[in-house]
Amino acid sequence: MTSPTIETLLTRRSTKAVCAPGPKPKDLKRIMQAAVCAPDHGGLQPWRYAVIRGDARTRFADMMMEAVKRSGDKRMTPDKEKSVRAWIDDVPVLIAIAQHMDHDNTKIPESERLLAVGASVMNMLNAAHALGYGAFWSTGLGTYVEDVQDALGFDALDYKFLGFLAVGTLVHELKPIERTPYKKFFKEWTGPHETAPLE
Ligand SMILES: Cc1cc2nc3c(=O)[nH]c(=O)nc-3n(C[C@H](O)[C@H](O)[C@H](O)COP(=O)(O)O)c2cc1C
Repeated sequence: MTSPTIETLLTRRSTKAVCAPGPKPKDLKRIMQAAVCAPDHGGLQPWRYAVIRGDARTRFADMMMEAVKRSGDKRMTPDKEKSVRAWIDDVPVLIAIAQHMDHDNTKIPESERLLAVGASVMNMLNAAHALGYGAFWSTGLGTYVEDVQDALGFDALDYKFLGFLAVGTLVHELKPIERTPYKKFFKEWTGPHETAPLE
């Protein structure tokens, strides 16, 4: 049986090469709605997002560059700065991604909450692809610089900052890529300490 949903899942690819226009408002809403349809043990809804678009992208780029330079990161050479700024200028919508730490909750292990946020972002990647947009999860752009996280409203005490999702119009048509055969990662469990290759 063929299904458009399975085709979407099997053809998804990340792409950094996106441009304006950004997703139509109704499509962006659906992408964000997909984010809250992720599995989530304990109903903690640990995903938090900040949408950066329009003129705010320049303010974000200025803030991020200053913070990265202040942090002493020597990799931010003038050439690198130029290319990063050009990318931010091209990307119509950036979504900053964070996990709310919810320190008072001791019932659900932290790893499970992190996985819930990962699943939430994955839903957005798939939704963007299903709607014909390009998307890319990046942990560049000062993700690990505390002043950047802080300025985005995700202070390190209460949040784990997890990067940015770039979404926009595809610059090039996405060509299918060959994925590693799934059998490499699956085995058949047949009994305690007994496994066999998956047929
Ligand atoms: C949490 C996370 C952070 C990532 N950060 C970066 C990054 O900063 N730079 C980069 O080139 N790729 C990064 N990637 C990888 C790309 O988003 C993408 O998954 C990869 O290029 C493989 O493409 P595919 O999704 O089509 O398999 C990251 C992926 C994940 C899951």
